[in-house]
Amino acid sequence: MPKLIVVTREGEEREINGEAGLSVMEVIRDAGIDELLALCGGCCSCATCHVHVDPAFADRLPAMGPDEDDLLDSSDERNATSRLSCQIQMTPALDGLKVTIAGED
Ligand code: FES
Repeated sequence: MPKLIVVTREGEEREINGEAGLSVMEVIRDAGIDELLALCGGCCSCATCHVHVDPAFADRLPAMGPDEDDLLDSSDERNATSRLSCQIQMTPALDGLKVTIAGED
């Protein structure tokens, strides 16, 4: 099972197993990390699943769609490493992926 490393807003680092096929958002939520609100349940319409992805994995991520791009634009916390975690599926190629939960808007 690919591993996911999550850094919370308080800086706590947690390593969790990310079942392939689930989104990064689902893996974080299922691990009980509730500061990632994911209010829309993964429909790419809320931006409350915003994370910053370790740049080392940037070229292994799925391309960002226009809806994700627009939603991220509404966040003051956006930077070059921003993604919506519901739009990234866990795959074996993402083993060891490290994401930091973005600050609350
Ligand atoms: S959970 Fe709403 S956009 Fe990702």
